[in-house]
Amino acid sequence: MRISVPAVRHWKVADGTHKPLVMVTAYDYTFAKLAEAAGMDILLVGDSLGMVIQGHSSTLPVTLDEMIYHTRCVSRAAHNALVVADMPFLSYQISETHAIEAAGRLIKEGGASAVKLEGGEVMASTVRRLVDLDIPVMGHIGMTPQSIHRMGGYKVQGRSTSTGAGSAEQIVRDAKALEEAGAFSVVIECVPQDLAATITKELSIPTIGIGASSDCDGQVLVSYDLLGLQTGEHRPKFLKQFAQLGKAAVDALVTYGDEVRSRTFPSPTECYQDSPPRPSLTAMPGHNAVNEGTGTSDGKAVA
Ligand code: KIV
Repeated sequence: MRISVPAVRHWKVADGTHKPLVMVTAYDYTFAKLAEAAGMDILLVGDSLGMVIQGHSSTLPVTLDEMIYHTRCVSRAAHNALVVADMPFLSYQISETHAIEAAGRLIKEGGASAVKLEGGEVMASTVRRLVDLDIPVMGHIGMTPQSIHRMGGYKVQGRSTSTGAGSAEQIVRDAKALEEAGAFSVVIECVPQDLAATITKELSIPTIGIGASSDCDGQVLVSYDLLGLQTGEHRPKFLKQFAQLGKAAVDALVTYGDEVRSRTFPSPTECYQDSPPRPSLTAMPGHNAVNEGTGTSDGKAVA
């Protein structure tokens, strides 16, 4: 059964009945199927795709159309997990009308059940407007990647004792403003453990941490990071690699290259032989043995 927005809204670990929520980013159909099979609670179509899929140095260039495209790919695979789509930079900051249109398209065309946007107090009225229109919103505070230029890099937030943007005091205010505006959950990124614990305790909606400690009600990681697909990239302190798929992929590709160059691949097993395909299949217009779905693309095996 699909995890619903109201179910997540009441997901507080402190109540003793919930285990932490598990959220992971997904950008395409095949990975989303794997994430579903692994029992992920929430699939986030993150604008981190700007970096891990598109190769940009920040999330800022990602467009709404690109987010809709990837959200649609993920939604097709998601039958149990909740699909949340990131609102890209400038799709919600200009006006509430822009935000409604962008969020609406992520739901209507992308098939997401909710959207995520960055910012706390300053975005509260936009969040309220979206929620009033039945568009569920997940907040995102602390280190907000779309604010890279204000922050001067991807830096831990909430350490400053001042009262301005990025201070612990402001991040607590941001969390409360999002809850009051009707957000159903909030991502807290890269803040000290005590601050994440305080916010988690004070909010009735779940907090989902990334670099924000196990005191949160759930965790999120970028799939490419946790699977070790990014070889040689800077690795933040909070990141644990649960596999080294990048190395496994390079090893497999090296073997493929070696076998092609040494002419050991394709071997006779991977070649079509000269026997005719089944007459009943070839007689049908538009049919070919390769697409027959018999479990083999080998003409001899089908015949
Ligand atoms: O875009 C993203 O992947 C995110 C997560 C890191 C929370 O916002």
